[in-house]
Order: sequence, then C-alpha cells, then structure tokens
Amino acid sequence: MTDQPRPSTGPDRAPDLFTWEFAADPYPAYAWLREHAPVHRTRLPSGVEAWLVTRYADAKQALADQRLSKNPAHHDEPAHAKGKTGIPGERKAELMTHLLNIDPPDHTRLRRLVSKAFTPRRVAEFAPRVQELTDQLIDRFARRGSADLIHEFAFPLPIYAICDMLGVPREDQDDFRDWAGMMIRHGSGPRGGVARSVKRMRGYLAELIHRKRAALPAEPAPGEDLISALIRASDHGEHLTENEAAAMAFILLFAGFETTVNLIGNGTFALLTHPGQRHLLQDSLARGERGLLETGVEELLRFDGPVELATWRFATEPLAIGGQDIAPGDPVLVVLAAADRDPARFADPDLLDLARRDNQHLGYGHGIHYCLGAPLARLEGQTALATLLTRLPDLRLAADPAELRWRGGLIMRGLRTLPVEFTPVP
Ligand code: HEM
Repeated sequence: MTDQPRPSTGPDRAPDLFTWEFAADPYPAYAWLREHAPVHRTRLPSGVEAWLVTRYADAKQALADQRLSKNPAHHDEPAHAKGKTGIPGERKAELMTHLLNIDPPDHTRLRRLVSKAFTPRRVAEFAPRVQELTDQLIDRFARRGSADLIHEFAFPLPIYAICDMLGVPREDQDDFRDWAGMMIRHGSGPRGGVARSVKRMRGYLAELIHRKRAALPAEPAPGEDLISALIRASDHGEHLTENEAAAMAFILLFAGFETTVNLIGNGTFALLTHPGQRHLLQDSLARGERGLLETGVEELLRFDGPVELATWRFATEPLAIGGQDIAPGDPVLVVLAAADRDPARFADPDLLDLARRDNQHLGYGHGIHYCLGAPLARLEGQTALATLLTRLPDLRLAADPAELRWRGGLIMRGLRTLPVEFTPVP
C-alpha cells in the first residue's frame, strides 16, 4: 500500500482498451490517449464504433454541445447490429424515455417537473434517515470483525435510500434490491434476467404510481414521498403522464443506484490504499470538522469516480471536437475518468489530495444533463465514509489491492468485492 501516485505514462502504441488489465487500472491508457489521440475512434466490445473524448477542455465542451443528441434514434447503426449494441433506447421500452435519452424541449419540460419534486431541501430533510440506514447496515457486521463492504454496505445503502425517498413500502424494498442486483451483476444489456427484472420493476412502479395517484390528498403533507410529489408536479397545466412518472422513478433508481454503490466502494478503497490521506480525514472527523469530508468526497469522485464514461451522445450534424471531424450519426463517449486526470486542468492529477480546492471535476457531468441526484449522492457518500471511519477506526483491506476484481462494464467503474477487517465492536 502506498501514498505514491501511480505513474500515468502509457505504452508507445495505442493501448488495448476494455481488457481485464484496463478494467483494473484504466488511467495509464487514458494518459496515453489524452496525449496522443485525444479524440479517438475505437470499436467497443459490442461492435459499435465510437469516439472517445479524453481531454478535460474537449470533454466539457462536448458535454454542453447541443449538436450532440442524447436520443439513440440519431445513431446511424447498421441494420444488422440493431438491438445488439447495448445502447439503451434501442429496446424502445416505455421506461427508456427518460432524461438521459431525450433532448430539449422534452428534456427541459421533464427536468423542470422533476426538479420541483426532487429539491435540495427534500434531500436535506432525508439526512437523518440516511444516517439511520448507514448505522443499521454497519450494526449487522460490526461484531464480526470482517465484511465485504460492497455486498454488505455499498450495495444495499443506496437502494434502500432511494426506495424510501420514492415512497416504495419497506416490505417491497427487498424485491427492488434483487432486481437492482440483477442489473448490476449483468449490466444493462438486453439479456434474459435483466430484461425480466426491468419488466418486473416497470410493472411494480406502474401499479404503485396508480395507487398513489388514487390516494393523493389535495394538499401535500409534510415529508410527502417523491413519487407523490412527482404525480403532483405540473407545469403550466401540464402534468406528468403515468408513463412519464414511471420512467422518471426508474431513472432515479437506475442513475442513483450503481453510481452511489461505486462512490462508496471506490472511495473506501482509495482511502484504504492512501493511509496518509485517510488519517488526515479521520483526525478531522474526530475534531468534529466537516470541511475535509466535503472536499474529500469531491476529490474521491475526481480521482476514481463511479462514472467512467458519460452516457451516449450522437452527432446530429457535422462538428469538430479538439480538431477532429465528427460525422452525423457518430456516437461520442466523453471519458469523465480521463478528463478528471488531465494535467492541463488539475495540478498533480494522479495524486489523491482530499483538501484539493480548485476541483471542478466532471464526475457529475456538465451542462443540461448535469446529475440531478448530486445532492443525494453527496449526502450518502459523506455519511457512509464518515460513519465507517468513525465506527471502525482501524478498518483495513483484507486482500491484496492488486488482486481485487473490477467490473468491466462500459459506463461504470466499480469493484466486485471489497473485503475488509477491523477490531470487532460490540
Ligand atoms: C445524470 C453521475 C448519483 C440521478 C448524471 C450524469 C452523471 C452522473 C455523470 C450525466 C450523464 C451524462 O451527461 O451523460 C452521478 C454520480 C453519482 C450519481 C457520480 C453518485 C456518486 C445520482 C443519484 C441520482 C442521480 C443518487 C438520483 C437519485 C441522475 C439523473 C440524471 C443523472 C436523473 C439525468 C439528468 C438529466 O439528464 O437531466 N449523473 N450520479 N444520480 N443523474 Fe447522477
């Protein structure tokens, strides 16, 4: 274990992407791309050819460029590949007409509606519940002296939190945990079990929304759940349809789940492998301070964030990014993980510095699709890490860091398991 940054010098030729080695540590390959091929056309494991954008300035510009559409209908994919590329909207399921797959003006209308329901105030009111959930999960393994922090902690926390917030009754939340587990284990590809889980979730959400609409009181009660607030949300007389509300609930679950699992997982891993930084944070928490925790969670997002690549974008007209011409219909993937280690933007980018100040990372995206759930993610990340380090002060890895397996998914970056040990606490 070391506090030293890994060197980010890459090989002499374009590195192999999407191998197991790459999944374990993609940063040297990203350093090579940033330097030698900052807008790089590559064939993805699904067979689709896409542009990877790896420099910070280009990434930021691309994320805000309205000529890059989120609507998969703009993809010029060959007929023989239809439905096999893993591009989400292809399956045309009703739940896929959500914020991350649509453009203005629909996006503007739906985002405004959901922003009325999913407010920073609602998230702040939820803080005691997140703390309670965090403590309950730690209680389950604290006496044992060991745990797998992915399965026993990082995985259940966000799913129970978002279910509670949406207003999914407690007795149904384990079903959600199982459906979400299926999606995280097998990715979002159109495979049998995943498709079944999505279908069950859709059926359940449609019925729940229907029931809540029928029982909705005229005036909102304090602490009203998010689904009720979504049903209530209206804009110049325009209401969300039940289908839009179901797609919205689904994207909140989907976008807010695996991301937060990986924020907690990658964040804890980074702290356990950077003991100097971890002790600074532990000392500041012991003094009752929150400043280093807040800048620290942002730095963990920059240093090894959950979203490796932003979700799909497609050129709607000819354009250039970083001097590279892009043709209409071409998919563009903005590599947030590469942009956030760009030495042209961040001093010592491979160094984990929890106190980093000038830290406008792209971990939550940028522009009109900027993460809607960032306040909830921050609340969960800060609560989870602070509580772990405070309640289990000698927490340590129970495996060689080089032996840990990373998921090889395209969009997300996260560990499969995170075995830890600590002195048991009664
Ligand atoms: C969008 C990251 C947690 C809901 C995004 C985007 C990123 C991101 C990068 C933009 C994607 C793009 O432009 O292609 C993260 C990270 C999280 C996190 C790193 C955790 C650490 C959450 C949570 C929720 C959420 C907890 C909700 C409960 C959303 C939604 C969008 C979004 C609804 C789409 C917004 C739009 O298209 O207007 N997120 N997210 N996210 N996120 Fe998050």
